[in-house]
Amino acid sequence: MSDTPPVCDYEGSDYRTRFWENQGRDYEDQVERVALRQMMPPSGGTLIEIGAGFGRLADEYVGYERVVLFDYSRSLLREAQSHLGDDPRFIYVAGNWYEMPFVAGLFDTLVQIRTLHHAADVPALFAQLARIARPGGDYILEFANKQNLKAIARFLTKRQDWSPFAPEPVEFVALNFDFHPRWIQARLQEAGFHPGQMRTVSHFRLGPVKDKLPTGLLVSADSMAQRTGNLWQLSPSVFVHNANPSWGEAAAIGTFFACPTCGVPLGDVDNGRLRCQTPTCKRQWSFTDGLYDFKEPLT
Ligand SMILES: C[S@@+](CC[C@H](N)C(=O)[O-])C[C@H]1O[C@@H](n2cnc3c(N)ncnc32)[C@H](O)[C@@H]1O
Repeated sequence: MSDTPPVCDYEGSDYRTRFWENQGRDYEDQVERVALRQMMPPSGGTLIEIGAGFGRLADEYVGYERVVLFDYSRSLLREAQSHLGDDPRFIYVAGNWYEMPFVAGLFDTLVQIRTLHHAADVPALFAQLARIARPGGDYILEFANKQNLKAIARFLTKRQDWSPFAPEPVEFVALNFDFHPRWIQARLQEAGFHPGQMRTVSHFRLGPVKDKLPTGLLVSADSMAQRTGNLWQLSPSVFVHNANPSWGEAAAIGTFFACPTCGVPLGDVDNGRLRCQTPTCKRQWSFTDGLYDFKEPLT
């Protein structure tokens, strides 16, 4: 697996308490929820959140029969598990988004928020998501927009050397990328998705503005501004709704996990393990205390 792209590892991270809890980001949390509710079908069969972290947005998925919270960090998934309790609709899966451990055509809805900035190989990631999306499914993607007003101002006043107008991603810190909307749309199309509606989000993500004005007012103003997302994109965050083409095959009933190494469907858990039956693979993956772990094989 040495040729897989590098991963930004949140194992053991204090992301929840350091970034969200009482950290003055109610505005960001609320405007992201507004955009998500506008784009995501409110109910359905099986949903996956890719890079779900500690499950910040899990309460948005009440209308779904099964919800996979997928993340590379076991510790963040354990935090999700502890605050969501034993709701059987939630399935916790640790793994790498470049090697998704699911059969093709499985998910009705895919959601990915605040994670694409860690993707060093976006085409490889989108190819995996197009594979596991059900024909006619929906993929709601949020990405960090390099063409935002702050970056434009910094570039024009020569305080930033990279151009916010250039299409290629910019890695401003190791494994942290900002993307141009046109570049993202082109990569989505190459993967087979049909990118459609866009919503620009978090227009008022500025400390002094957030300090002076009530959060509710800013959220209302942002909700209105989000609607201009298909005309121009100058906000730091952009949501894009993608339709998966309606042709192709849905996953066979009863199938779910697939070996992330060889791609063959896996059977049921046996003695705390999922076992790949391919003679040349034979890898085994652990299921412990409600967490499916595809980060490394047991054997
Ligand atoms: C900034 S956090 C966002 C968490 C969540 N989406 C939210 O908005 O609260 C980024 C998440 O992406 C996950 N991540 C990064 N690279 C990953 C990869 N290759 N496979 C799966 N998850 C990954 C991290 O573990 C982390 O939980």
